[in-house]
Amino acid sequence: MKWLPLVALAVPSQAYLRFGCATLSVQRLDPIVEPGRLPSSHVHQIVGGNAFNATMDPKIDIAEKATCTTCSFSEDFSNYWTAVMYFKARNGSYKRVPQYPNALLGSLTGGMTVYYLQNDFSTNGKAKITAFKPGFRMTVGSPTNTKGNNPGLRYTCLQDVMTRAPETAEFPAKPCPAGVMAIHHFPACWDGKNLDSPNHQDHMYNTGKGGFVTAGACPSSHPVRMPQVAFETMWNTTGFNDKSLWPADGSQPFVWSYDDSKGLGTHADYLFGWKGDALQRAMDSTPLLSNGIKTQSVDQANKCSVKSTIVEPIDGWLDKLPGNPMPM
Ligand SMILES: *[C@@H]1O[C@H](CO)[C@@H](O)[C@H](O)[C@H]1NC(C)=O
Ligand SMILES: *[C@@H]1O[C@H](CO)[C@@H](O)[C@H](O)[C@H]1NC(C)=O
Ligand SMILES: *[C@@H]1O[C@H](CO)[C@@H](O)[C@H](O)[C@H]1NC(C)=O
Repeated sequence: MKWLPLVALAVPSQAYLRFGCATLSVQRLDPIVEPGRLPSSHVHQIVGGNAFNATMDPKIDIAEKATCTTCSFSEDFSNYWTAVMYFKARNGSYKRVPQYPNALLGSLTGGMTVYYLQNDFSTNGKAKITAFKPGFRMTVGSPTNTKGNNPGLRYTCLQDVMTRAPETAEFPAKPCPAGVMAIHHFPACWDGKNLDSPNHQDHMYNTGKGGFVTAGACPSSHPVRMPQVAFETMWNTTGFNDKSLWPADGSQPFVWSYDDSKGLGTHADYLFGWKGDALQRAMDSTPLLSNGIKTQSVDQANKCSVKSTIVEPIDGWLDKLPGNPMPM
C-alpha cells in the first residue's frame, strides 16, 4: 500500500476541508450523552484535542484549554468520536478491530478522516456558511435506531483502500478485502440559538442526502447553514476475513461496542473546538484552503494523546464487551 505524504492535503480545493486525525484515546467516556459518568456505557474511539474529558462544560472553550491535537490542522481542537468495532468469534469472545488512516492522508495512527463541506466537492454553493461556536456539540444516529433511514449513516465494503461505493445501511454481509469504512454525515442546519439540546440533535436539522452531494435547503425552524461535517473511519477487518471464523448461520461477525451486529444503530459525536475564527475563515474562502489554516506534521499529530481515565481491558480476546451495552 502506498501512502501519500501530508502535503497532498495542502492542495487547494474548491469546497471542502478534508483532513486526518490520529487516535487520541480509546475508552469508555462520553462527555455529550453521559457527561461526568465514569465510565460511560460503551467504548469509543476519540480523535482531536487533548481537552477531551468525562465532563466538557459548554461554557468552556476547549480551543483555549487544549494544548495539542491529533488532527492535521493544528488549530482544530474539536473532538470527534464514534463507537468501536469488535469481532465476535464463534466461541462468543470479542476482539477490537484495529483502525487505519485514510490512504490519502499519510501515516497517522488509526483515527479517522474528517470533512467540512460548504456544499459539495466541486462547488461552494455560494451560500454563507456559519461556523460553529465554542461549546457547540451534536450527535447523529442513535444506538437504538433499527431503521437505517438516514442516508448519511453508511458502510462501504472496501475492495481496496480507495473504494467509495456502494454504500449500505447495515454492516457488509461478506468479507471485505481491504476492511470496512464507517461513514457519518452530520446535519448542517442550525436553529441559530442553541449550542446543544436535550437529545443533542433537535437544535440541528438534517437535509443531507448522503454521500457528499448538495444538501437540501434549510427549513425556517433551522435557518442557519453550518459546515457539513462528516467522518470516515477505516476499520481493518482483514485479520478476520477467514470465513471459517464467521458465524455458521452465514451472518457477519462484526459488532459495535454497544452490541449492535446489524450496524443500524451507528452514531457519532461532534464537539466544536477550532481556535478563534479559523473555521469561519476557511468557510468564507474560495478555494477553501487558501486562507492560511495552519497544519502540523504527522509526527506532531501522532504524539498528542490523553491518558485513559477508565482503565480496563478493551483489547485482546474479551469474554464480553466492556461496559453495559444494550443488546439489539
Ligand atoms: C479531566 O477532569 C478531571 C477531573 O474531573 C481533572 O482532574 C482533569 O484535569 C481534567 N483533564 C483535562 C485535560 O481537562
Ligand atoms: C475464542 O476464539 C478465538 C478465535 O478463534 C480464539 O483466538 C480464542 O482463544 C477463543 N477464546 C476462548 C476463551 O476459547
Ligand atoms: C490490516 O490488518 C492486517 C492483518 O492484521 C495487517 O497485516 C495489515 O498490515 C493491516 N493494514 C493496515 C493498513 O494497517
